Amino acid sequence: MRQRDLGRGLRVSAVGLGTMGMTMAYGQSDDARSIATIQRAYETGVTLFDTAEMYNASVPGSNERLLGRAVRGFRDEVTLATKFGYDIDADQTAAPVLDSRPERIRAVVDNSLRYLGTDRIDVLYQHRVDPDVPIEEVAGAVAELAAEGKVLHFGLSEASPGIIRRAHAVHPVTVLQSEYSMFEREVEAVLPTIRELGIGLVAYAPLGRGFLTETVKPSKEYEVDDMRRFDPRWQPENFERNVAAVRELRHIAQLAGVSLPQLALAWVLHEGSDIVPVFGTRTPERIDENAAAVDAAIAPELLERVRELLPDGAFDSRYTDGHMPTSVNVWS
Ligand SMILES: NC(=O)c1ccc[n+]([C@@H]2O[C@H](COP(=O)([O-])OP(=O)(O)OC[C@H]3O[C@@H](n4cnc5c(N)ncnc54)[C@H](OP(=O)(O)O)[C@@H]3O)[C@@H](O)[C@H]2O)c1
Repeated sequence: MRQRDLGRGLRVSAVGLGTMGMTMAYGQSDDARSIATIQRAYETGVTLFDTAEMYNASVPGSNERLLGRAVRGFRDEVTLATKFGYDIDADQTAAPVLDSRPERIRAVVDNSLRYLGTDRIDVLYQHRVDPDVPIEEVAGAVAELAAEGKVLHFGLSEASPGIIRRAHAVHPVTVLQSEYSMFEREVEAVLPTIRELGIGLVAYAPLGRGFLTETVKPSKEYEVDDMRRFDPRWQPENFERNVAAVRELRHIAQLAGVSLPQLALAWVLHEGSDIVPVFGTRTPERIDENAAAVDAAIAPELLERVRELLPDGAFDSRYTDGHMPTSVNVWS
């Protein structure tokens, strides 16, 4: 597996695996199969694994525990990234509740270390910017945890250029994690800032949450606890327009001799050597297909056709309120 430098000595496989769908967001999953998927990723050369405190707030620690169990035999050979930033004890039915107060960050980190079964978090992200806590306080808290050796790299997620600069002035930010795919381009406005500061990009949901695969289907056909039932891009009218775009993308993939998910990953990888997409899957066989995208050589004119087809990404926005859902109620 090829490696990429994200900045400040953080060198990881060119694609990473996200574990969110293993405990939330995409319907029922099976722990044994999820663990087999993580281990298959490691065998294929993937070294970046992405989790969060928030990935199943109703069973605290469930996602991190799963990842910790899966990597027990090779923990020192991989990069574990997790995130703080929500109050998972709050009632999340109306909207997700943010909490990046320094005391909360410390508590989350101690829990994450325990759940992951490790003595350090390789990358610690603030999951979402908290308007009630100045980012300088957040960066200061992470700096203390770094000084204690509990955290190696500081990351932000979905942060603006101004926030990134302010955080970076207090404690160096290594990576920004934001959604980026053929379907989602908002972060392109932030790329000049992070490149100026030497900050890498971890591109999440590079498969458009499954839209950029052969498994996309109308919203009502997903399980009741699958957030795609409520995702704006799956709603009537948007869905048909996005499916029509995918039909064209599939044609481009065929011309390139790759599968649709491979085109989606290769497109992100071609946008810069400082970008590492983290895809999600709970299916061991899909690891091989997705990892092979790293070696896909796609003609520049075919990548350009993607931009011509979708200059601004998919039809309609990705979130209704800027947050991942904490329960399906948030989306209903
Ligand atoms: N920072 C943030 O706020 C944030 C937000 C969202 C996500 N993330 C991170 O990004 C990671 C990836 O995002 P994501 O999982 O939401 O979206 P994604 O990677 O764009 O898409 C995942 C979906 O694609 C399917 N899939 C994957 N490979 C496939 C293949 N080769 N063929 C067919 N279907 C395939 C998966 O199905 P199966 O699972 O059934 O295989 C799943 O339904 C998450 O796990 C999380 O770590 C971060």
